[in-house]
Parts: sequence; structure tokens; C-alpha cells
Amino acid sequence: MKESIRKANQYIDENREKVDQQYRGAFHLLPPIGWMNDPNGFVYFRGEYHLFYQFYPYDSVWGAMHWGHAKSKDLLHWEELPVALAPSESYDKDGCFSGSAIVKDDKLYLLYTGHVDDEEKREETQCLAVSTDGITFEKIPTNPVIHMQHIDGIADIADFRDPKVFEYKGSYYTVVASKTVDDRGQILLFASSNLEDWSFKSVLLEGEKGQGIMWECPDFYQLGDKYVLTFSPMGSGDHTSVYLTGDFDYKTGKFDWHISGEMDWGFDFYAPQSMVAPDGRRLIVAWANEWEWMPLFKDWGPTYQEGWCGFFNVIREVRMCKDGTLAFVPVEEMEKIRENKFTQREIQITETPQQLKAGDGISFEMKFTLDLEETDADRVELKLRCGKEKESRCIFDLKNGELLVDRSCADGWSVGTSRSVLKVSEKSLDVHIFSDQSSLEIFTDQYRNNHSNNIFAGNDQDAISISAFGGRAVIRDYEAYGLQECFN
Ligand code: FRU
Repeated sequence: MKESIRKANQYIDENREKVDQQYRGAFHLLPPIGWMNDPNGFVYFRGEYHLFYQFYPYDSVWGAMHWGHAKSKDLLHWEELPVALAPSESYDKDGCFSGSAIVKDDKLYLLYTGHVDDEEKREETQCLAVSTDGITFEKIPTNPVIHMQHIDGIADIADFRDPKVFEYKGSYYTVVASKTVDDRGQILLFASSNLEDWSFKSVLLEGEKGQGIMWECPDFYQLGDKYVLTFSPMGSGDHTSVYLTGDFDYKTGKFDWHISGEMDWGFDFYAPQSMVAPDGRRLIVAWANEWEWMPLFKDWGPTYQEGWCGFFNVIREVRMCKDGTLAFVPVEEMEKIRENKFTQREIQITETPQQLKAGDGISFEMKFTLDLEETDADRVELKLRCGKEKESRCIFDLKNGELLVDRSCADGWSVGTSRSVLKVSEKSLDVHIFSDQSSLEIFTDQYRNNHSNNIFAGNDQDAISISAFGGRAVIRDYEAYGLQECFN
């Protein structure tokens, strides 16, 4: 075993007990210790789901990237595995950056970015590692497999990363994030017959000024008879992760897109990565955080003091709606950890706040519909994780057709309000919420209008209330559950 991997595993074992638990969620995948960012290598291998992640075990801030590793039979309970990749070679000495996994000939391959950051040169190349047991990985001797010669004149080698590999009719393809020489995001496509020898295929998409300086962590897949491209545009304001759907021609490598949208309007949904489950569902998982936070939190928030930072959002299934837009639905597996069911067929809401029951008020799931035919209120306010002078507000502004998730009074740390257009022209509005120790994930408009926001609320913040302003509101089919702990 490589010395850098042995050292990381030993450090984790010797220090994991020092990690404090206060802000660690019950059902969101998180690292045993240290820093986590993007999900990597989401794949199904020999009957189990594998998930890797950008990982720096030695501190709760970003550092020389390793790949952490966990596996699961049910997408809920994850078993921690030894570190899969660590910087060890001249081409990845400053980090094993994001990438993806693919199964070929019953072996598990990881295609990742080797990151080199010297004073005189910064270089990012794509590298391959292989495993026969799904636990220990060997970097192949011919690395890097995609490098300067492949992109000469097309892209900047200093920002060329995050390969997402896929197979189509016996050939392999990978999309890679890059930027143009004048700092616009672009996604490149490469092809290979064996995962080792690659050739440049096409510029899949090129951005315009103002659409982000680098499009990180791209993903590209077929959904029905359309193709979906997703990425996280760095430096483009409120957009954390976006999608485009359209038609793709393998011969020319041309992607002709027609519809675009936000995967999530919240602050904390970045670098989503997908895989196909054995039953054919397209599943995605994202990092519940975002780089824009950096200047706000000098040390990435209160979990830093606990010895860890970062977790993943609830895994979602991607579905295409009739109008071509995408819906992102929490996986049905989540139903298996429900407990303490509480239901109410109808709730009348007025300006006087009404308390709602859902699990322990901290880790819970809540579902209801707002009957818009019976509602004449201008605004409905749902307050979650409320305690003494602290609360997170979910504001359904029915008059202006806007959804606002305000976490400015959530915890003394978090800032900002995420906003999106709310569809109020239908007969009812569906609302589905997952709350965990440090996060709120809110889904509306048939899972097309979602807000994932982290909050670091104390255990005394366990009250939920709802009120309506400018009229009354009617809630139907309220159901709520506590959610069982999936980790310890
Ligand atoms: C996205 C990202 C990737 C990179 C990784 C490094 O969050 O910046 O582009 O590979 O994180 O940890």
C-alpha cells in the first residue's frame, strides 16, 4: 500500500474519537473526520453502491485532496472504507481532484484529476486508477491519460478537471471541465476504446461572459430520448448547479440544447454527480455546501470546531417532466427510515402561528399540499428549527409568486435568503421537506423548485409553526415522520 494512503488511514483511526457530534446529521453522508467536498465516483459495483468524495483528513479545511470512500447496499446506511486515493505521484502530488468511476471487465476504474500547483506551473491532467476488489486502487503506469497534447490550443491546462466517464455502445466517453483562454466556462468531450487511450472529440458547450469563469464538475447522460448536461458554474452569482437538456449526436459530438434550469436554488448544492441504479433510475448526489461561502465564514462554520466539515445532500432521482424540465425527487429509499408517523387531513391556517408536529423537530420529513383554491392569503410562512429568537423561514409568497428561504436568523452564523419563482397558477402547491441536524432541504412545484440550505441550529431549536397573512390558508394531507439515524 502507498505510504500516503497508509498514513491517512492511520491518522483517521487515531483521531476519529476526537470529532464532536453536535452538528453531525442523522441521515446525510459525512466524513469520519476532516474536510469533505465534491462527491466522486458514484457507482454500483458487485451489488453495492460506492461513493467517493474529495477528502482532506488532516484538518477541517480544504487541503491536498484525497478520495474518501464509503459503500452501501441501500443508499441510506454507508459503511466507511479506507481512503481510496492520496497524492503520491509527480502528476497528482498536490491533490487527487474530482472524478468518476466506471465498471469494466468486473474491475472498478476511477478517472480523476491529477493536480500540480507549483510556483512556475499549475497543471491539471486526467489519470486512471484500477481496483479488483473495490477497496484498494492502483494508479496505472501510463498516467496521465489525458494531458497537454490533447487540449493544445483548445483549453488552459491550469484549469482542466473533473472527468465524468460513461460508456455508450462499447466505447467510453468523458466530459471534462475547462475554461477558454479568455476565462469562459467550457465542457470538453473525449472518447476512448479502452479507458487508457483518449482522443479529443468536441467542445460540448462553451459559455458566454458572465456565465461563470469555470464550469466545474460536469455530468452528461441520457434521460429518455434526451441528453442532460449539468455543471456548477464558478463565479456566476446565485447559480450553484444548472442543467441543460437537448439532443446529442455521437458522430459529431454536438450537443444541441433547448431547455435550461436550476437543479437547486439554495446555497448548498454543488458539484452533483449521477449514476444509474440497477433498476434504471438516474440518481444524483451533491455536496451540501458551496465555495461562495468562503469569504463569509472564516473557517467554514461551526463544524470546523468539531473537527469536520461538509456532507452530502439527500440523494435524488432525476426525472424528465412532460414539458422537458427536470424534477429532482428524493429517493424512495428514504421512506425506509421513517418513524413516528403523524398525519392530519386538513389544517386551517390563520395569522396566529400554529404549531406543527414532525418527529423530534430536528431530523424529520414533512409533506403537505397547500390548497390554493381554498387559500386567499397573500403569504404563508412556515418556520422551522425555531428556538429562542432563532428560526428559519420558508415564505410562500402567493401574491408575488415567489418562494423565499430565509436563514438569516437561523443560528447566528448563516446568512442570506434563497429565492425562486413559485408556481401559484395551479390548484394546489406540493411541499416536501427534509430537515436534519444541520440542513434544510425544501422541495416544491413537483420537485422542480428546490432549496437546499445548511443551518447550524442548536438542539433547543425544535419547534415548527405555520401562519398565513392577508387571508387564510388551507393545508391538506399533512404527513410527517421522524427519520432514523443512519450513522453513529
Ligand atoms: C469543485 C472543485 C473541483 C475540484 C475539486 C477540488 O468543488 O473545485 O473542480 O476538482 O473541487 O477539491
